[in-house]
Amino acid sequence: MKRSIGAKTLAFPTPTWVVGTYDLNGKPNAMTVAWAGICCSAPPCISVSLRKATYSYAGIIENKAFTVSIPSEDHVKEADHFGLASGRDEDKFKATGLTPVRSELVPAPYVGEFPLVLECRLLHTLEIGLHTLFVGEIVDIKAEESVLDEKGDPDIEKIRPIIYGTGNRSYYGIGRDLGKAFSIGKER
Ligand SMILES: Cc1cc2nc3c(=O)[nH]c(=O)nc-3n(C[C@H](O)[C@H](O)[C@H](O)COP(=O)(O)O)c2cc1C
Repeated sequence: MKRSIGAKTLAFPTPTWVVGTYDLNGKPNAMTVAWAGICCSAPPCISVSLRKATYSYAGIIENKAFTVSIPSEDHVKEADHFGLASGRDEDKFKATGLTPVRSELVPAPYVGEFPLVLECRLLHTLEIGLHTLFVGEIVDIKAEESVLDEKGDPDIEKIRPIIYGTGNRSYYGIGRDLGKAFSIGKER
């Protein structure tokens, strides 16, 4: 028996990603997002939703670009800090001890220590309400060799990404492999 619990932003799982931008003076900044996901296969695109009040918002508008750095479990504390403090008040890279790396393809920095990075140029901006949805075309992905499988593709078990639990606002690791997509359904 299902029970109505109201119109809320509860969907599972949501990611813990870090959006990298330069501010109007060229200072690198990074903020955590959970309202985000892949949104098109061709061209390859990703969406992130930011409140106008964030410092990063103006950075995306100004540079028409952003990066998405995907942290591993090892950096859960730093990822949380990127979502607690504002680049308006502090240099979050200095505060966390992490390294801002200038993308050679788009005017945006990424987090050097995180294993997977998506470099994006702004394709669309959609005003929704409290949040503005930015669609970025993924122009390249930079991956640490150590998280690639034998075919050269990123391996989720090597990345160990962080899941954000929207209900209890806690961070989780990934679970076990349940079977191959586009395949296991044939076994029913
Ligand atoms: C787990 C987590 C997820 C978050 N997701 C979002 C999000 O999707 N959109 C958003 O606008 N803020 C989100 N925030 C809040 C911002 O990261 C936070 O306001 C941050 O201080 C903004 O940084 P900035 O002012 O330097 O841009 C999230 C914070 C945390 C901890």
